[in-house]
Amino acid sequence: MVFTNAAVCGNIGFMKYRRCGRSGILLPEISLGLWHNFGAGDERAQNAAIIGRALELGICHFDLADNYGPPPGSAEERFGSLLQHEFAGHRDEMFISTKAGHLMWPGPYGDWGSRKHLIAGLDQSLRRMKLDYVDVFYHHRPDADTPLEETIEALVQIVRSGKALYIGLSKYPAAAFNRACAMLAEARVPCLLHQYRYNLLDRSCETGMLPATREQGCGSIVFSPLAQGMLTGKYLGTPALPAGSRAERTDSIFLDADKVAADAARVAAYQAIAAEAGIPLTQLALRWLLQRNGVSSVLIGARTVAQLEDCAAASGQEALDGELMERIDSAI
Ligand SMILES: NC(=O)c1ccc[n+]([C@@H]2O[C@H](COP(=O)([O-])OP(=O)(O)OC[C@H]3O[C@@H](n4cnc5c(N)ncnc54)[C@H](OP(=O)(O)O)[C@@H]3O)[C@@H](O)[C@H]2O)c1
Repeated sequence: MVFTNAAVCGNIGFMKYRRCGRSGILLPEISLGLWHNFGAGDERAQNAAIIGRALELGICHFDLADNYGPPPGSAEERFGSLLQHEFAGHRDEMFISTKAGHLMWPGPYGDWGSRKHLIAGLDQSLRRMKLDYVDVFYHHRPDADTPLEETIEALVQIVRSGKALYIGLSKYPAAAFNRACAMLAEARVPCLLHQYRYNLLDRSCETGMLPATREQGCGSIVFSPLAQGMLTGKYLGTPALPAGSRAERTDSIFLDADKVAADAARVAAYQAIAAEAGIPLTQLALRWLLQRNGVSSVLIGARTVAQLEDCAAASGQEALDGELMERIDSAI
């Protein structure tokens, strides 16, 4: 298979790239995460088609973590197998991240932020993906009990060992993030990426992480931009959950009928704004994020090639006008 990088994408325009902080990292405006849809029970051929189409669309960034699946580890195994068989020779076109910090194995070192957990966790991830190194390694969540110095020293050690090119943090609150950035800068291994949730239904980062990353000159890659699918509008207007959707599947514990019902009124309000503007809700949700000052990349999930293509089309579009942005703000 031959894939074009930063391809001309037929009728969906060009994928744009954004620089993260003062670094050589250029992320596509739309990145692809493998939290869901790439587990042991998901169809391998479908996964291959999604990765292949992503590369064609210029989506070169693939975000993993040790615990993605289900079961934990299986998304990295699937991705590693695809890399080995379907995408051999394309490693250098890809910007691959993984993370450690959530529960992976029994005992005191299977979790959190100790030096032992992070170094053993990354070694396991590299084995599952059959890689010598990842492009970004994240500490997946803050650990209130391990001294931050130890976690940061482990991250620095990982970069110096060549097992990761860059370091990122995930879900750190602003104060811990600022302390971590200072330590990493002192070690000359700057924090170049912070990963946190940001979407029309959850704007909590606007008073914490978003300004903090801007002030630190750190890239922001924001996850669950469609609120796990709710901001596509797919759950509106029918009491039945769509077949195969994340809320309907029993192998995902992160979205269910109760959560969908709790947010339905707010989603419907955004749906009405999108309809009035003549923009599909999915596009409105992604383009709105791409317009927020400080967002480097919007990290989506996709179960099908069509979903991926739909999301990719948000890149390179004209800015939403000021009146529409105000209507979105006043809908909260
Ligand atoms: N650092 C962290 O702690 C953390 C936490 C969460 C996520 N993440 C990262 O962020 C990535 C994305 O998270 P997410 O999966 O929650 O993102 P999301 O884009 O908000 O949700 C993805 C889901 O939305 C639906 N969808 C996407 N595009 C669609 C379209 N065009 N039309 C209809 N439905 C569409 C699909 O759901 P259906 O399956 O229902 O069709 C898809 O599985 C993860 O893979 C992971 O890499 C990181």
